[in-house]
Amino acid sequence: MTYDLTGRVALVTGASGNIGAAIARKLRADGAMVVSADLPGHLGGGESEDWHALDIVDETSWATLIAWIEGRHGRLDILVNNAGIAPMGKLEDMAIAEWRRCMAINVDGAFLGIRTALPLLRTTAATAGHDARIVNVASAAGVRASPLSSAYCTSKAAVGMLTKAAAIEFASLGYPVRANSVHPAAVESDMIDAILDRYSAITGGTPVDDLRAGLIAGHPFGRLVRPDEVADAVLFLCSEAARYLNATEIHVDGGMIAS
Ligand SMILES: NC(=O)c1ccc[n+]([C@@H]2O[C@H](COP(=O)([O-])OP(=O)(O)OC[C@H]3O[C@@H](n4cnc5c(N)ncnc54)[C@H](O)[C@@H]3O)[C@@H](O)[C@H]2O)c1
Repeated sequence: MTYDLTGRVALVTGASGNIGAAIARKLRADGAMVVSADLPGHLGGGESEDWHALDIVDETSWATLIAWIEGRHGRLDILVNNAGIAPMGKLEDMAIAEWRRCMAINVDGAFLGIRTALPLLRTTAATAGHDARIVNVASAAGVRASPLSSAYCTSKAAVGMLTKAAAIEFASLGYPVRANSVHPAAVESDMIDAILDRYSAITGGTPVDDLRAGLIAGHPFGRLVRPDEVADAVLFLCSEAARYLNATEIHVDGGMIAS
């Protein structure tokens, strides 16, 4: 599946991770100039030569990167807020600091990205002849609750609503900026491997293979999602084929939420 994004500049956060790398790779394959961002010490991997340090909870870090993009490229057509964390634990044992860290990265990070990038997205769209696009990577966990993930589920539900609120606000103000979210089910990824290990530890040593089998059984296609399948949904939302989609949730879950 390809779309022509030639000449467009895209920023992908969390681009060192499994899903972010797949998104950046596909955007680049479709012609976009991709700025890949991640925490200092997590840069590299993938094929991007344009890596930038970004801590998405830090306002100054955002301002510095967006200013650099404006100076270097003069435009920003696409913002993909993909970076995120997935802490696991019993709600009753969760420290407030851990809860707040999850909200700060998953929710505040997406908010700061939208707020900081918005002026450049708007000026780009005003001259580009197409609207600018924001895609937030939320999660099926933000729609359907799962155990030992209260902070994560709550944060991803907030990302979904942040996306809709921003989309409706921008449309009402006449801003040429669309915002949509993707909600993957469990993806074959390091994040899921870590979640299963942690789940096993919290539940007193349930074998990880049993947990994985149970997780897969909950997915109607009998397998987990692949990172490139999440990336395809992001690409679609960034493309002209999705020009009338706004405040939309795309569930990349094989029907898991509906089941
Ligand atoms: N893996 C899954 O099963 C799954 C399912 C649904 C949704 N998601 C979401 O998809 C996104 C990507 O997940 P992934 O599986 O690629 O995870 P990952 O851990 O491989 O990648 C996440 C990336 O975000 C970066 N990051 C974390 N905190 C950051 C910060 N403060 N500033 C900048 N970057 C930061 C990490 O360094 C990492 O490279 C996340 O938002 C995740 O919640 C993942």
